[in-house]
Amino acid sequence: MTYARILATGSALPDRVVTNADLEKIVDTSDEWIRTRTGIRERRIAADGETTGDLSFRAAQQALADAGVKASEIDLLVLGTTTPDLIFPSTACLIQHRLGANGCTAFDVNAACSGFVYALGVANNFIRAGQSKKALVVGAETLTRMVDWSERETCVLFGDGAGAVVLEASGEPGILATCLHADGGYKDLLYNPVGVSVGFKDEKNHGVRITMKGREVFKFAVKTFDALVGETLAAAGMQESEVDWLIPHQANLRIIEATAKRLKMSMDRVIVTVDKHANTSSGSVPLALDAAVRSGRIQRGQNLLLEAFGGGFTWASALVRY
Ligand code: UT7
Repeated sequence: MTYARILATGSALPDRVVTNADLEKIVDTSDEWIRTRTGIRERRIAADGETTGDLSFRAAQQALADAGVKASEIDLLVLGTTTPDLIFPSTACLIQHRLGANGCTAFDVNAACSGFVYALGVANNFIRAGQSKKALVVGAETLTRMVDWSERETCVLFGDGAGAVVLEASGEPGILATCLHADGGYKDLLYNPVGVSVGFKDEKNHGVRITMKGREVFKFAVKTFDALVGETLAAAGMQESEVDWLIPHQANLRIIEATAKRLKMSMDRVIVTVDKHANTSSGSVPLALDAAVRSGRIQRGQNLLLEAFGGGFTWASALVRY
């Protein structure tokens, strides 16, 4: 049996920190509202000219260096993002060239906030099928580029960042199960109304911007994670008690706490970075994973449950023996 094992992780964040107090100066909000409703205290915002590709490149370089793998050894590069540098070529192609992995399979996956877990699921299946031996998987966003800074309902929620993992084909257990889902029937609850084919302005002459019915998304996310946990454990043949760490999508601390409760996990076994990073969409799970690996909390041999939820709707999970 061939598994995809995580050799190493990496991450990258923009330098600029924007606190809740900073946002109080531009919209009618308060640090207290943001903290109690979301758990967010601050977020990073990309500098002018700093792109999703730049953050991806730095995260990938760190993961490759820590794995002791040369870029030229990578035969697959899958990048989850909904904020690519260009419409085409894909950001995966752009960073493939910068890294020096030219020639390998490289493509982006757009599954909104589930982008990284989707990309991980795709790479896992390439490895299990024998089509890849060493893969680089990235989740990266500059989501603040499509935030309307006059809308307090959304502008306080998002941040920029990237995370990456290097996977290797191995006889030892690595990724034990992945579950990937989508239901396009929920498009109107969370979407960006403009794009190439419909045009870059909507009927109200708005440009690119995140549109979300927050309360409804919240309810659906809690219900979905509840079912996803059960499905993933069953797919891996595991009990709740065997999961060492929950690494959830970092959108809202209250959603994370509800999932931990479902798993009967105390919050000290849950990786939380939403306070520092806010919602970085595809960047959120790999950023949290890398933070926990670097701080020494996650140890080799432990079981990790990764899960994400986003526009589409999409939802996805991975149970990983680290
Ligand atoms: O990553 C993709 C998935 N996304 C998510 O998982 C996000 C899911 N949703 C959420 O996290 C929450 O629904 C939000 C954080 C977006 C909103 O929290 P909420 O507790 O659902 O608040 P709400 O939307 O019901 O709004 C409550 C009140 C409203 O005022 P009224 O109508 O009660 O007078 C809003 O106008 O809070 C008001 N409000 C704000 N007040 C201060 C909304 N945004 C803000 C703000 N500052 N930034």
